[in-house]
Amino acid sequence: MKISIIVAIDEKNAIGKNNQLLCHLPADMKMFRLLTTGHTLVMGRKTFESLPNGALPNRRNIVISRTLAEKEEENLIICSSLEKAFEICKEEDEVFIIGGANIYNETINEADFLYVTLIKHTFENADTFFPSIDFNKWREVSRENFAADGKNPYDYAFVKYARIL
Ligand SMILES: NC(=O)c1ccc[n+]([C@@H]2O[C@H](COP(=O)([O-])OP(=O)(O)OC[C@H]3O[C@@H](n4cnc5c(N)ncnc54)[C@H](OP(=O)(O)O)[C@@H]3O)[C@@H](O)[C@H]2O)c1
Repeated sequence: MKISIIVAIDEKNAIGKNNQLLCHLPADMKMFRLLTTGHTLVMGRKTFESLPNGALPNRRNIVISRTLAEKEEENLIICSSLEKAFEICKEEDEVFIIGGANIYNETINEADFLYVTLIKHTFENADTFFPSIDFNKWREVSRENFAADGKNPYDYAFVKYARIL
């Protein structure tokens, strides 16, 4: 099982504010959907609660929480530890860690790939941050740069990193 982290960060590694994303960037949403559809997602309880319509469709959603009761529904599993989550999906090719900061911090040293959307902007008053990426440990595999347009208010880049083994 490969562990992939997927995240959108600003120029100071910010990822959220008031338990919400920093901005609406449709291109990032589209890329997120493309990469994660058909796979299992692992997320923290707060990120789950920030989703406007609950579990994301066409993907298995695993939510980690010490306070919510464990349960298993159609595409939603709530479990009490990361270890249990990884045990559930150990037969899969690639599992996506979709945040938030707590879960990123707890998994970055185990992850094989980072899919980073770099938003070329600094958001004021952000309150949640991605851990700093140690570039001695990560090799850039690909990078695509895009300019802001009518739908996407900031320049951005999709960058993929692989762990240096
Ligand atoms: N920019 C992005 O790509 C991106 C992606 C995702 C999220 N975000 C943002 O990140 C923010 C939320 O991040 P966050 O760090 O505050 O919260 P989070 O990581 O989403 O959730 C934290 C919660 O997860 C549970 N948890 C964490 N580690 C656990 C463990 N080892 N075992 C059991 N449960 C565990 C705990 O839930 P209990 O308290 O229930 O025990 C903890 O309070 C929001 O602003 C969101 O919009 C941004």
